[in-house]
Amino acid sequence: MTIMVTGGAGYIGSHTCADLLAHGHDVVVVDDFSNSTPEAVDALRLVSGRDVASYRADVRDGAALGEIFAAHPIDTVIHFAAKKSVPESVQVPLDYYDVNVAGTASLVRSMTEHGVRRIVFSSSCSIYGDAHPEPLNEDDPPGPTNPYARSKLICEQLLADACVASTDLSAIALRYFNPVGAHPSGDLGEVPTGHFDNLMPRLCAVAAGQADKLQVFGTDYPTPDGSAIRDYVHVMDVAEAHRVAIDHLDDRAGMRLLNVGTGTGVSVLGLIDAFTRTCGVPVPYALAGRRPGDVASLTADPSRIAAQWGWRASRDVTQMCQDAWRFAVRHPVGYQA
Ligand SMILES: NC(=O)c1ccc[n+]([C@@H]2O[C@H](COP(=O)([O-])OP(=O)(O)OC[C@H]3O[C@@H](n4cnc5c(N)ncnc54)[C@H](O)[C@@H]3O)[C@@H](O)[C@H]2O)c1
Repeated sequence: MTIMVTGGAGYIGSHTCADLLAHGHDVVVVDDFSNSTPEAVDALRLVSGRDVASYRADVRDGAALGEIFAAHPIDTVIHFAAKKSVPESVQVPLDYYDVNVAGTASLVRSMTEHGVRRIVFSSSCSIYGDAHPEPLNEDDPPGPTNPYARSKLICEQLLADACVASTDLSAIALRYFNPVGAHPSGDLGEVPTGHFDNLMPRLCAVAAGQADKLQVFGTDYPTPDGSAIRDYVHVMDVAEAHRVAIDHLDDRAGMRLLNVGTGTGVSVLGLIDAFTRTCGVPVPYALAGRRPGDVASLTADPSRIAAQWGWRASRDVTQMCQDAWRFAVRHPVGYQA
């Protein structure tokens, strides 16, 4: 298959491309490089040993998307391109609605104009919010607590409405929990640009001596050690979930929602401890207040995706830490090294 991957130079997108290429699919990367660089696509070519078509384009630019659809026999789209920082979304919410919601509307419009009926969408566990008993399953009502999560929920609703209007459209929203880790080669990983909030790259930066201390945001959550709990899932497991989703897009038209997580929660302090033990590197940290928009605990019930497609996460926290650290050591300044 030829798959358009929006945001394909980003963290999860590039790993998903690597998995798709390794399984014989062709990919067409569409990325404006607002939170990545073209060197990520070079790294993808290196680890896959395959050529990769890549376009610098904004998903809100319908004309640019139209030219790309016209140039390739694209039958499926995986839509990663988005802004993803919860704290930033609280500061600049309109940017999040613009890129995430208007970008998705533009993409779906362009797809339908070019007869492409299959889409896998990057959703997020953040749409569940704080209000539920855990583990979280897909039937729990959403309760997003920040503009980022609300933008993702609106995109899910947009896709569901588009599927009602176009009855041959097939959409799957994968609600990822917390992807971490890197490609086993050590040559593809998470390379945040500018200010970044995700825990694993910050942890690696402190371990590498590039930052003094890791800030642990929130120490008074109602969790056993007071720090926030997340369901960390290896990015290669997440990548594989996309390939499996593509195989099931034709099972039926319409919209489906599926969690992608391990079902096991790990606290921030627990992840620091696992990283320190696994990688043998100290990670000095400082306790800080809660960040606006963050919630205490998000752990998946991953039973639906297991029952429907047989997908289960197969990599544990030790492997997540080892792979993330291997990439950080080999690429201390990202792909420029
Ligand atoms: N990383 C996580 O913890 C996590 C968790 C749940 C969901 N998600 C979702 O998964 C997707 C991928 O996340 P990621 O961690 O790989 O993020 P990322 O920032 O590494 O990747 C996103 C990519 O999209 C590109 N992009 C942004 N705006 C664009 C636009 N208007 N047009 C074209 N390209 C654009 C960026 O340059 C970047 O390469 C996002 O939709 C995110 O919301 C991420």
